[in-house]
Amino acid sequence: MSARILDGKFYASKIKEETKAAIANLQHNYGVTPGLTVVIVGEDPASQIYVANKHKTGLEMGIGSEVIRLPEAVGKEELLAVIARLNQDVNVHGILVQLPLPQHIKQYETEIVNSIDPLKDVDGFHPVNAGKLAIGEEGLVPCTPNGCIRLLELADIPVEGKRAVVIGRSNIVGKPMFHLLLARHATVTVCHSRTQNLAEVTREADILVAAIGKPKFVTPEMVKPGAVILDVGINRVGERKIVGDVDFEAVQDVAGAITPVPGGVGVLTIAMLMHNTVRAAQLQQKKMIY
Ligand code: GUN
Repeated sequence: MSARILDGKFYASKIKEETKAAIANLQHNYGVTPGLTVVIVGEDPASQIYVANKHKTGLEMGIGSEVIRLPEAVGKEELLAVIARLNQDVNVHGILVQLPLPQHIKQYETEIVNSIDPLKDVDGFHPVNAGKLAIGEEGLVPCTPNGCIRLLELADIPVEGKRAVVIGRSNIVGKPMFHLLLARHATVTVCHSRTQNLAEVTREADILVAAIGKPKFVTPEMVKPGAVILDVGINRVGERKIVGDVDFEAVQDVAGAITPVPGGVGVLTIAMLMHNTVRAAQLQQKKMIY
């Protein structure tokens, strides 16, 4: 048996179409063009590529996309002042500070992320948005796990009543993924580096989400035949090659459906960032109380 390949580009194009329609509505109803500002500090090459892709996608979709580039040596107070200015700017609906921050200000990452107005927090990292997700209120949801959920919806893969296993407990993917799957009535287990008998747990999964950050970590022995595999990993091996957290070649013979890397979940993440920018603009027009 060979798995159904869940093509991220195909589903991302659907999300972008929906988002473009929402942009047209915002312009028509409120005369507002959603604006996204990405702040990048320093010269990390991978971050430069991610930010360039975000900027390009935003412009293509008619979003007011702007990148603020700050030098590696920028101080915490200066960065906080930039965010404070963006919080006040009515033309900026979404603010994203690209992570990781350079070593000398890494310790302030939480303070910096938390200084973003929760209504403009298109990453969904602010504690207000994390809390809203946990209690099922409408907020801004982290792009990668939300992209996984949209993918399941668009691919007509049922979640209700299914056994879902998430490997990885990060605030960015694992924990929000848990809440999103639970809210859709899956029975969810979160595994991590201290989980005992991991393969025994993952073999229970109808839906398996791999968000560990270890190349080809998930092998066929860990997968239930016919399972849906969502691979969130982006691991650089060697100079140019990118692989996921799942051994795609081997696992595709066991799984029922699987996302490739590259060309899977990563593509959806950028589309969901645009979706979140539009949602942030909508929430700001409705003057939602946070
Ligand atoms: N760096 C890598 N992925 C992300 C992301 O989704 N958001 C931010 N802010 N930084 C990142």
